[in-house]
Amino acid sequence: MGVLKHYKELLPITPATPNVNLEEGNTPLIFLPRVSERLEIKLYGKFEGCNPSGSFKDRGMVLAVAKALEDGKRAVICASTGNTSASAAAYAASQGIPCFVLLPAGKVALGKLAQALMYGAKVIAVKGNFDRALELAREGAEKTGCAMVNSVNPYRLIGQRSGAWEICDVLGKAPDWHAIPVGNAGNISAYWAGYNEYKKLGKINNLPRMMGFQAEGAAPLVFNKPCPNPETIATAIRIGNPVSAHLARAAVSESGGEFNSVTDEEILAAQKILAAEGGVFAEPASCAPLAGLIKLKKLGKLPEGITVTMILTGNGLKDPDTAMSQVGKPIEINDTLEDLMKVLEHD
Ligand code: F0G
Repeated sequence: MGVLKHYKELLPITPATPNVNLEEGNTPLIFLPRVSERLEIKLYGKFEGCNPSGSFKDRGMVLAVAKALEDGKRAVICASTGNTSASAAAYAASQGIPCFVLLPAGKVALGKLAQALMYGAKVIAVKGNFDRALELAREGAEKTGCAMVNSVNPYRLIGQRSGAWEICDVLGKAPDWHAIPVGNAGNISAYWAGYNEYKKLGKINNLPRMMGFQAEGAAPLVFNKPCPNPETIATAIRIGNPVSAHLARAAVSESGGEFNSVTDEEILAAQKILAAEGGVFAEPASCAPLAGLIKLKKLGKLPEGITVTMILTGNGLKDPDTAMSQVGKPIEINDTLEDLMKVLEHD
């Protein structure tokens, strides 16, 4: 039924809010038996890649676009490492309004770029990083009156709380640990707010430790200072100066959680494990939490038997280039049974 309808009591919906809906949300919380066994925990992946534009961004974008329309705005603008732009473009298309997206030139995964272009957004490649593109988008929004739909738009983070509510609705409680990739630091803040709201409403009795994971080359929250030249293969979280850093720090300290960094190699190894032992294909940034859990396990810092939910923020299909660089090629054969049997018997 979509996030706006499903959680209408918890969202700032008025009779004047248009019912924007791409059937986002209600994504599967997948128990991962083999990876759980490896880590000696109960591990669930919330597969946000099942959202209509293939990432968690749709949860907040649906509300941001609905409220923009309610406020009389007639165009949206955002900067993005890829997923926000795909989501903004999808919702703008569904409402017939223009969408302008600013992307760091050459640093956006192919699938995301294809999405924004297919949905009909005006795609602007900025010769600079995401942080600079975001500054420009904010200035552009101010000058033109376009609705800014990055997570500086408060409705984005309010809509993203729905992920926490869904987890609690399924588990009947909050997990012990909530593991999540951190880029611009909005999602970790939204989840923390969502869990707290559910606790206040008496729907859960516990709160999770918020465990945020960043890529080593783009880890301003781990090293506690902005990173002027962020670099990582996980382009979704290639961000050096997160706008919601203050909220994310509060979430981690209030919950007794931690920020940790993982290397690109650890991220890629985790992506392979998630696919080959979990049956779930998530994009590199989404695999930073699993990489982090594996690292913490090695360090003896992962308590046995705990329930962990990790947010698999985006679909693996969005970044086919990175995936193909990590795996072998198909085995080519002539179209004969003899050739086929050689392969089948070899395995
Ligand atoms: N995972 C994915 C797949 C993302 O696309 C993002 C952010 C994050 C994690 C981090 O979430 O920013 O709330 O801490 N992508 C943004 C974008 C920046 O433009 O698509 P965050």
